[in-house]
This record gives sequence, C-alpha cells and structure tokens, in this order.
Amino acid sequence: MSEGPASLIGKKYPAKKHAQNVLKLFIKSRNSTDPNPVNFFISGEDLVLYKYSDQSKPFRQDRYFFYLSGCNIPGAHVLYNGKEDKLTLYLPDVDKEDIMWSGLPLSKEEAAKKYDADEIKYAADIEQDLKNLANSGSGSGKGGALTTDLNPCNAQFTAYLSEKDKDFLFALDESRAFKDDYELELMKHAAKITDNCHLAVMSALPIETKETHIHAEFMYHALRQGSKNQSYDPICCSGETCSTLHWVKNDGEITPEKHSILIDAGAEWECYASDVTRCFPVNGDWTKEHLDIYNLVLKMQSEAYKLMKPGANWEDLHLRAHKVLIEGFLELGIFKKEYSVEEIFKAKGSARFFPHGLGHMLGMDTHDTAGYANYSDPDPLLCYLRIRRKLEPNMVVTNEPGCYFSPFLLEETLNNPETSKFIDRQVLDKYWYVGGVRIEDDVLITKDGYEVYTKITKDPEEISKIVKAGLAKGKEGFHIVV
Ligand code: GLY
Ligand code: MN
Ligand code: MN
Repeated sequence: MSEGPASLIGKKYPAKKHAQNVLKLFIKSRNSTDPNPVNFFISGEDLVLYKYSDQSKPFRQDRYFFYLSGCNIPGAHVLYNGKEDKLTLYLPDVDKEDIMWSGLPLSKEEAAKKYDADEIKYAADIEQDLKNLANSGSGSGKGGALTTDLNPCNAQFTAYLSEKDKDFLFALDESRAFKDDYELELMKHAAKITDNCHLAVMSALPIETKETHIHAEFMYHALRQGSKNQSYDPICCSGETCSTLHWVKNDGEITPEKHSILIDAGAEWECYASDVTRCFPVNGDWTKEHLDIYNLVLKMQSEAYKLMKPGANWEDLHLRAHKVLIEGFLELGIFKKEYSVEEIFKAKGSARFFPHGLGHMLGMDTHDTAGYANYSDPDPLLCYLRIRRKLEPNMVVTNEPGCYFSPFLLEETLNNPETSKFIDRQVLDKYWYVGGVRIEDDVLITKDGYEVYTKITKDPEEISKIVKAGLAKGKEGFHIVV
C-alpha cells in the first residue's frame, strides 16, 4: 500500500497543466490587454535547523509550490514562463558536505523522469534566468515574475519578483479548488488510509485507556500505510472534551464513566489531505443520550447530502442542518414544544449547539482554498462557515455536522432570555456528559451529485459491534510494550 495508488503508476503529477490553468484564470481575472507575458515563480519551503539539536523544524512543503511542481524536495523552486509555456523546476544546489549526512540527492536525470517539467536546472541558475526575463521586458509588476509572497525562501530573488498580485492569488486559489483526476486519486488514497486508521482505533479499546493512546493508535496505522504526515494534529476527545472543537491536548484519561469518544483525524498522502471524524461509546454500548445525539447528527448529515449537487448553495445545506438539529431537539424535549422550528431558527437558538460550519473545501490544505469564508459576518449561524459559494463539479468538501454541549459556549445562550426561553434545563442537564458528537466525511462533488470518499462505517449498530469485538480480545490480543 505504501507505493501509492496503482492507477498512478507511470503517471506524473500534472504540474504543467496546473500552471497553464492558473495562467488562463489569471488572464480572465485580470481582464486586461496588458501585452506583457506573465511569469510565475514560487519557492518551496526549505529545511530550517533548530540550534544545537541535530534536527530541522518539521518540513511541510509550500502548497502553491507543490501545485505547480509536484515536488516535495526542500529548497526547490519553480518558474513558469507564460510566453513560452515553459515550466522549469530548480533543484537545490548539491551540497557535497551534506551527502555524508543525508545521502545522495535526486539527480537532474532522475528528476526529469519523475516531475512534469520542461527543464530541470539547479538553483544556481535562477538569478540569471529571472534577470533575463526582466531584461527582455517580460513579466507583470516590476518585471521578472509574480510570486505569492516575499519570504526567506525567495529572499535572494526579490529584485525580480512582485508579490501578492490579487489576480494571481485568485487564479491559484480557484485553480486548486477544482481537482483533476490525478489529485482525486491522491485524495481517495488518503481517505482509504484514514478509514483503516479509524477502524483500528475503534477496534483497540482494551489498550486505549488515555486519549494519547487513541492518538498513537491512529498515527501508528497511518505510518504503517506509508503516510508520514497527518493533515492536522489528531483531535482525540473523551466525555466532556468532545465539546472542544479542536481539542489537541489529547491528555485525558478514558474511563467508563465518560461514555463517549470523538476522534477527528486524517492522514495525508503526497501533500493531499483527508479529514474524518467518528464517535463511539467507550464500552461499546451507546447510552440513550449519546445515541440520541449521534442519530440526530447522522440525520443532519444525511439531510445535507440530499441537497448536495452542483449549483447548490452551501449556506442552504448548512442552514438545513441547523433546522434538523432544532427539529431533533424539539422531539427530545431539549427545546420546549411550545415553540416552533421557525421561531427558534430565527432567534438563532441553535447557534451555540452547532457552532461551526457544515464543512469546508478539502485539498492540499485541510481548510483548502477558495471557500471565501466571511469571519466578520454578524450572523452567528454563518460566521464560521468556510464555504460561501455554490458547489461545482470536482470540488472536494467535508460534510461534518456536529452537536455539542459546551458549558462555555452555552453560557451566553442560557443567560440570554431570548434564547434560554426555548430550553428545558431539566432535559438539557441529562446531556452534558455526552460532550459532543461530530460525524465528518470527505466528499467529491460530481456532475450530478456527489461521491463519498471516506467509507469507515458510521452506522451506530455496526460501530457498537466493532468496539465490542475489540474489547472481547482483551489486552492480550494486542502487542504492546507499555
Ligand atoms: N479537523 C478539522 C476540521 O474538521 O475542520
Ligand atoms: Mn473538517
Ligand atoms: Mn475534522
């Protein structure tokens, strides 16, 4: 499995197509007759050493650089010459001293076979190439090339670079929003690895007596499948910590009295992310309250799927999920039956029970580009919604409704008579221990609907069986040293 998807064997990451598409979108966005050809230059991240420690800071490739190169080597650069339609990848200069510590670097010939570039050069050639472009009158801005931002990785070349051109950034972000077949294969692979990791976590309760153990279990299985990086720090919660959306301390004890576990974790494959949340009961048996909330969140997700297709406005899906939550709370008696769904919805009575957005764009970044969130939206139902646009084919998004019982978040709702009047405190008080439930999957928008990439079960009965089968094995069923 660690070789990657079989469908990609013999194929190259389509960097040149990405560069051509960015140029096309740039020209469209610029909407000008500027005769200057446009060139793009992006530097990848480089290794940065920690002082005295014999190691570098964790390396994470620049996503824009990867998009135009498919190259995960630290200290590399890419130049796209728009006039000549030529993509040049610059490898870092060979440091003979470093070969002793790090081994031989990729040769130019090997790089030419591996990457989708017209020419492979070394970094020593960059300055002259950019100077030639600038002298030939080529390039927008101050001549030379456009880049995303000026930073330590391109500091030597700033004389020839213009940063933060809004049309260039827009073109990059928009192009990244629509995944091609190659990218989709990478994302499916990341999803498959993540499914296996979640299954492993659900099955290993006998050795998971702390949130840290869940964290370790997930990462162990990701690494064994060849995924060295997580898309984000795993969020491993139990009981009340399930109400903290990005709980990454992962330091709580998992005791039977806590009942609920929530794990939000996703493995990365070749810089492409997955992002999945599953919840399950500590001893395999759902308590009434935990299952009430679990089934409600499942319904929020399935109702959102019903609206998921090209042309659908993401806000409509998100607000539909809020209404399903309100309907569910009325049935459970958490909201008083004398109020209507519309009344509670209008008063934003559900805002703090489902405080985040229904989902976000997913790609190389977990919260990927081109969602156009508006964090200063005064509407508490919409301010954290990370997609504020219509869905289109080839976007990948998450569908991740949630329902939480956070004393901190709900203080305002409970103290404001306009919203507290809806709530039956006696009923609500039975649910605090659940903490929260989120169910999250990764979804491709297709020509006429959607395809769910993440397949780890979310059926509560099946989950219960998996957890119990793991528990039945006992500690002896697992190889652990501590
Ligand atoms: N894992 C972060 C998120 O779901 O957005
Ligand atoms: Mn997410
Ligand atoms: Mn997540």
